[in-house]
Amino acid sequence: MRWPQRIKIVEVGPRDGLQNEAQAVPVAVKVELIDRLSAAGLPVIEAGSFVSPKWVPQMADTDRVLAGITRRPGVEYPVLVPNRQGLDAAIAAGAREVAVFAAASESFSQRNINCSIEESLGRFAAVTEAAQRHGLKLRGYVSCVLGCPYEGAIRPQAVADVASRLAALGCSEISLGDTIGVGTPAAAVAMIEAVADRLPVNRLAVHFHDTYGQALANVLAVLEKGVAVVDSSVGGLGGCPYAKGASGNLATEDLLYMLNGMGVATGGDLDAVVAAGGWISARLGRPNGSHVGRVLEG
Ligand code: HMG
Ligand code: MG
Repeated sequence: MRWPQRIKIVEVGPRDGLQNEAQAVPVAVKVELIDRLSAAGLPVIEAGSFVSPKWVPQMADTDRVLAGITRRPGVEYPVLVPNRQGLDAAIAAGAREVAVFAAASESFSQRNINCSIEESLGRFAAVTEAAQRHGLKLRGYVSCVLGCPYEGAIRPQAVADVASRLAALGCSEISLGDTIGVGTPAAAVAMIEAVADRLPVNRLAVHFHDTYGQALANVLAVLEKGVAVVDSSVGGLGGCPYAKGASGNLATEDLLYMLNGMGVATGGDLDAVVAAGGWISARLGRPNGSHVGRVLEG
């Protein structure tokens, strides 16, 4: 087996995790979570999103979160933006990295951002053009890459089409999201191969949810295809408000444990991430969604 010697972990818990919490999470808790994760050596921590507060009220305070965190040199704090309005708010709040988010499924696109895939790409063209003018780093997401809660199976070519369009708009990294966690390793590899036929594999990231316990197996399978950027969420926080049944993201603790065991460098400190995962789970009053966290926390 061969895999990259270094993997970049993109921590999405403060956004993909907390956007899904039923309860309001205070700004101070979000700020402390992000600061704990940066202190744990994680290089990229998604800090929130500038979306409609009517759609996702949990992220309505992202400007205050960005204002409150202690920015560590070398660490990136991207935020999601669905349109120009979100981009303008992100820039005003001092964001230096932004992500647009499309879907490989028409029905999910409608439910998540209230427009078709084609319309979303049109909106994103305006966002990416302005983001580039402001010198922001750009990521693009494709959701539902291995299945859609409304449409079922998704063709790898449909994923490759949307990923290529996002790359053409200037997204330097494309994160391929198994939003509802239905994928298995063979399907994940087929999807990555279809996308990698069109884009260099070093521009691809994977974003697995652990609904059926397949996330780490999927990661391992695609690492062998050369993917070197993996999204994960501390404490396995997460789900998706517009994808019923989507359980937590792959837990950062579980990912780090596997990569440490394989001798893959990440910069992440497992004990510190476990402590952060235990801390946020206790603050939210929810079970720790990380296998490793549950064991090491004692
Ligand atoms: P819409 O209702 O069609 O928007 O929503 P609109 O343009 O008609 O505007 C309606 C109202 O929203 C207006 O306010 C706008 O000002 C406001 P009103 O005049 O009624 O008072 N508005 C905004 N407010 C703040 N920030 C904005 C913004 N835009 C409009 N940026 C829209 C369309 C895209 C805005 C909406 O559908 C939305 O915000 N969707 C976001 C949904 C979301 O955040 N989903 C979760 C993230 S995606 C995900 O989790 C998957 C991922 O993790 C990958 C994976 O897991 O696989 C990425
Ligand atoms: Mg997700």
